[in-house]
Amino acid sequence: MSSLDEYLAANRARWDESVAIHAASEFYGVDRFLAGESTLLALDIDEVGDVEGKSLLHLQCHFGLDTLSWARLGAEVVGVDFAPSAVQTASEIARRAGLRAEFVESELYASANALADHLGTFDIVYVNLGALCWLPDIAGWARVCAGFLRDGGILYVRDVHPVTQSLDDEAAAGDLRLRYPYFEQSQPQHWAGGEDYADDSASLEHHDSYEWNHSLGEIVTAVIDAGLQVEFLHEQEWTVYRALPWLVETGRGIWRLPDRDSQADRRLPLMFSLRATKGVNQRFPSAPPSR
Ligand SMILES: C[S@@+](CC[C@H](N)C(=O)[O-])C[C@H]1O[C@@H](n2cnc3c(N)ncnc32)[C@H](O)[C@@H]1O
Repeated sequence: MSSLDEYLAANRARWDESVAIHAASEFYGVDRFLAGESTLLALDIDEVGDVEGKSLLHLQCHFGLDTLSWARLGAEVVGVDFAPSAVQTASEIARRAGLRAEFVESELYASANALADHLGTFDIVYVNLGALCWLPDIAGWARVCAGFLRDGGILYVRDVHPVTQSLDDEAAAGDLRLRYPYFEQSQPQHWAGGEDYADDSASLEHHDSYEWNHSLGEIVTAVIDAGLQVEFLHEQEWTVYRALPWLVETGRGIWRLPDRDSQADRRLPLMFSLRATKGVNQRFPSAPPSR
């Protein structure tokens, strides 16, 4: 059995290899970004709020298109990722787009050391799709996020819903069956295969990857235990990629369950978004009110 370091090293090698494929793919659309298109979802822009003049840390930023889209909206951005080619490509795209941004190569749990000068300074920590499943310890992740926020700063995360992660992706169309662990396990789910989600025609040399699911309760509790005040937890019945083979595209880049009955859209949450605040605006007094 491999050690945690070996799992993370395998994931890092695979992500590192994928960057060139992604940067050339229609799916990510670097040309569209360079022509001025934002890669951010309207949902995120709406739920994060105005970023003008605010400092924003994007954890697991991949090759930076979302990070740089925040920069275009006026945020002072820092992106962190453990794949060297992700950070290099992000810096290169920032240069070509004429945007100011700092990209740092670091493993998530080591990022407090890599960015020690930035601890307790960010207005916003942003985490988006396809991030949490690569992390073995959700409580540790939440502590990393909280450590980067200033008092009053917010954590915003929008990711694949953990129920979706636990579904059988080989079941018949529309058949919602559980197959993979819903709760966090010490041993990861091992995947072996060279296919790439952004480009069907590409084949990766690094076949092995390791993922951990985290239940919604574990995610929310981790955020609270890290000292943050949860403002909302939303669950979306749509997603932005084909998370299950039989999802249908109902708008450009919007995927849903196939229509089965009038309630079809709302049978399953495919993504969630959560916003939490550090320190101030406590909803409850620290001691219960005396009677
Ligand atoms: C699916 S991508 C995130 C994609 C991003 N939301 C986007 O749409 O471009 C996941 C990213 O997490 C990074 N990653 C995975 N595990 C990590 C870890 N332990 N520490 C830091 N980065 C990690 C990968 O290198 C990859 O760039």
